[in-house]
Amino acid sequence: MCGIIGYVGYRNTVPVLITGLERLEYRGYDSAGIACVDHQKDGLILIKEKGKLGVLKEKLGDFAIEAHIGIGHTRWATHGEPSRANAHPHVDASGKIALVHNGILENYAAVKSILQKKRVRFLSQTDTEVGVNLIGAYYRKTGKLFDAVKRAVQELHGYFAFVLFSKEDPETLIAYKRSNPLVIGLGQGENFVASDVTALIPYTRQVIYLEDEDLAVITAQKISVYSLKTKTWVKRHPTTVHWDVSQAQKQGFPHFMLKEMYEQPEVLKNILAKRTPGSGEIFFDTLDKKFQKRLREIERVSMISCGTAYHAGLVGAIALEQYTRLPCRTQVSSEFRYGDPILNTKDLVVLITQSGETADTLAALREAKAKGAATLAVVNVVGSTIAREADAVIYTHAGPEIGVASTKAYIAQLATLLLLAFYMAKIRKTISPADLKELLREFKKMPQHCARVLKDIKKFESCAEKHYTRRNFLYLGRGCNYPTALEGALKLKEISYAHAHGYAAGEMKHGPIALIDHEQPVICIAPESKTYDKMISNVQEILARDGIVIAIGTDGQKDLKKMADDFFAIPRVPEILSAILTVIPLQFLAYKIAVLNGRDVDQPRNLAKSVTVE
Ligand code: G6P
Repeated sequence: MCGIIGYVGYRNTVPVLITGLERLEYRGYDSAGIACVDHQKDGLILIKEKGKLGVLKEKLGDFAIEAHIGIGHTRWATHGEPSRANAHPHVDASGKIALVHNGILENYAAVKSILQKKRVRFLSQTDTEVGVNLIGAYYRKTGKLFDAVKRAVQELHGYFAFVLFSKEDPETLIAYKRSNPLVIGLGQGENFVASDVTALIPYTRQVIYLEDEDLAVITAQKISVYSLKTKTWVKRHPTTVHWDVSQAQKQGFPHFMLKEMYEQPEVLKNILAKRTPGSGEIFFDTLDKKFQKRLREIERVSMISCGTAYHAGLVGAIALEQYTRLPCRTQVSSEFRYGDPILNTKDLVVLITQSGETADTLAALREAKAKGAATLAVVNVVGSTIAREADAVIYTHAGPEIGVASTKAYIAQLATLLLLAFYMAKIRKTISPADLKELLREFKKMPQHCARVLKDIKKFESCAEKHYTRRNFLYLGRGCNYPTALEGALKLKEISYAHAHGYAAGEMKHGPIALIDHEQPVICIAPESKTYDKMISNVQEILARDGIVIAIGTDGQKDLKKMADDFFAIPRVPEILSAILTVIPLQFLAYKIAVLNGRDVDQPRNLAKSVTVE
């Protein structure tokens, strides 16, 4: 959470910082700020405001700044309410050092009281101000910023990333990473540093992903990296980013979320092109022979993730268990990591994450590794921490996802996990070549089916119009569409702030049925499946109590269509593939309801796309 950016070079830094922050704003948006050193006046300029980046941009309109070094921040509050004083950058008591921070300094209270005894005055409630003042204290002693940062970070506990400079050396940025992401962008006569590559792609494709305990010294001409782990200067090799700039722009859509929903057929097409080059083939370029051997030998699987990725894991686990007959559990990362899980070398732990930075999922990965399990990350953001730390990684290739409510990254996770299940079944010989060929033949039609669902989706608009003022929604599904019910409810909650609850339809009688009356919409996800008749019984039970049925079914289900108040049909597909399609009308329903309520769809309150605090 929180987005940080730094720039040093020949351009005026202010527009670079603002463009970067616009692209990082999905990481947090309760306040924003920049600090730079004015070229003419030689002074440190600090401008920050409570609220979204737009408020800061308006404020900046009053200034004519010409600066060639600067740092910027967009905040998701951890310590201290959103306010101007708590917004970053923070400056040390001497007024020389400005710093932006992502993460948490866990021992800030102890360090703060030591500094207070030395008469350092604090202006905010943040842990960040403690960090910059500790650096400031050492800077006053040594006169060298690099040494001061090196000493200070070793005293600070927690996971965090810093970018900072001193106005006394307005040519040099210092960056430090511990767990939270930092990536350096390489330019000609300029260099950049940011929380993620989306902020850098307008300027450069050449990037260096910093590793944990890296302390980087960045000037316009040079980048030097010192590793606090090895206590040596190290060479970090640049990699090329292939993301398209246009993918991080709205391209005429009113919201990123809607644009990203419409990208879903293309995402599926890309995944299939990469993973299924031949008719009965599944190919994961990043799984080497050694890891493939491990996959053949494992005896149990755990799917670990948070939020939407957790729902993808639920579907993945159903497919994996069904096709490989391996026991497969699913757990949210925060429960897994503190649950002292029983793991050994015969376990496979699959970490599913869009960002590759979620703090609990990262901790779960480390726990699994420490216990000797094979770890496989299913990640969207290339080069992210989880992708780098796992024994093996499979990228989901959804491209940058900016909307805080995940859509195309979810579809990409589902497709990738299903292909992984089929692949494991193939290498463990639990699926016949003929069955696999048939499954893949059906899978290859998914981009087309997905495009059709999106073409029909406007028909569902009237459903949103009928119900957008309601405050309670119930979602029911079974089998691989029980996770769809959870995901549909999560989408609605996240962006419309209505209460929505996803339930396994078979559990309806054990509680939720008490909610049903003439005002209760129940979204029933009932495509063709082995439990279709059971879903129909649930629908009857809802109707018998005067509830409102909104049904997601399959083409040709006349009975369900007749019973439902609103009905949306997906094309006929094998049950295990249906979850890729049934979620799309639910994404749209949530989107429309949020828009009709005037919500901020791409940046819903209190949320952030990348949860890098625990
Ligand atoms: C946040 C985001 C969700 C996401 C979850 C897990 O809550 O708002 O969209 O599903 O984190 O994130 P990850 O990057 O690990 O998939």
